[in-house]
Amino acid sequence: MTELKGKKILLGITGGIAAYKSAVLCRELKRLGADVRVIMTTAATRFITPLTLQALSNQPVHNDLFEAESDHGMGHIELARWAEQIVIAPASANTIAKLACGQADNLLVTTVLASHAPLYLAPAMNHAMWRHPATQANVELLISHGVKIVGPDAGEQACGEVGTGRMLEPGEIAEHLQQQFQHNFLAEKQVVITAGPTWEALDPVRGLSNRSSGKMGYALASACKDAGATVKLISGPTALHPPYGVECINITSAQQMADAVMANISKCDIFIGVAAVADYRPVNSEKQKIKKNQETVTIEMVRNPDILAMVAALDNAPFTVGFAAETENITSNAQQKLTAKGVDMIAANPVSGDNSAFNSEFNELSLIDRNGITHLSRCSKILLAQRMTKEIARRYHETYSTKDS
Ligand code: CTP
Repeated sequence: MTELKGKKILLGITGGIAAYKSAVLCRELKRLGADVRVIMTTAATRFITPLTLQALSNQPVHNDLFEAESDHGMGHIELARWAEQIVIAPASANTIAKLACGQADNLLVTTVLASHAPLYLAPAMNHAMWRHPATQANVELLISHGVKIVGPDAGEQACGEVGTGRMLEPGEIAEHLQQQFQHNFLAEKQVVITAGPTWEALDPVRGLSNRSSGKMGYALASACKDAGATVKLISGPTALHPPYGVECINITSAQQMADAVMANISKCDIFIGVAAVADYRPVNSEKQKIKKNQETVTIEMVRNPDILAMVAALDNAPFTVGFAAETENITSNAQQKLTAKGVDMIAANPVSGDNSAFNSEFNELSLIDRNGITHLSRCSKILLAQRMTKEIARRYHETYSTKDS
């Protein structure tokens, strides 16, 4: 991929130990042909010197909000207008908080506020800071403004603790930026995506559900929207904020999901069933809370509609993509689902062991269609969704150009 050739990328660096990786990111962006300008916060200059970034970007490094003249003829307004894309890596909890409330007390956040360029943040911080409700609320707010959050990664941290908070590797951040400059390959297409778990009520307070977080479905909705599609996301209960620009229809049970899909499928070009739909629901959902007055209970269950198979069986069915969450014989089970449900493509992923996709930021997929298997290696669900969207679009366009000719 060389989509960064000649692209004007503003790299913001904030104060955190991951700032040393920003030098590698700067170098990678230059290697991909981008024109890179760097703003460092004062805290960032405590971790890595401006001279390093100056040498790598081949440009003066910006830091001072008030001395535009001495700041190499480019004040915040010029930098804001110049940038085609802004990436802040690492993005500290402090800078994320400032951006969320529109603060403008240093050159970096002021430039972001003055710019129309798409903003990417690669957070890096201690895992407890990342998990803190204040940081999470700030991130949710920024997502609702259309900001792209890439990472953070999980693993051992510089502070010696283990958790989610490491900055993504520079190569992966660069790939996110490359994706944005690709063409609108799903322009004018309508995409319907199901995501998350369903909840099958046993009584007013209890129910049957599963461990799906909804992250993969939401990431796909975001990737399809970025590729130019109009996206409807039909989601079971999750803790996620719908991606910017995506219409989200919230449902609870499998039957409600089926009804919502059928009500929105007529103009749909591509359907992606990512939801972990409950296969069965209790025959009776009790009106009152069930009392524990018996030693054992038996719950009679009845099959739920198979939404994916229903969509694939429609006259004029959209290009239909299903997921197969498997604990064993991943490829052969997925191949059986492809045929049994009559879909165009199945994305198979492991849901047991160390690489389980459930409730993880990461996943890997085998894309299976009638022509064979394409393996997408393990990476963040956001990046994986972007790669998968391209694969779906390619197959969609191939299928429909063949049908038309
Ligand atoms: N799916 C669906 N409606 C259902 C069950 C599943 O739309 N009632 C979709 C899921 O969204 C996914 C695909 O079917 O895209 C595969 O789901 P999965 O649970 O892996 O497989 P099942 O078909 O349920 O088969 P099994 O549980 O026997 O593995």
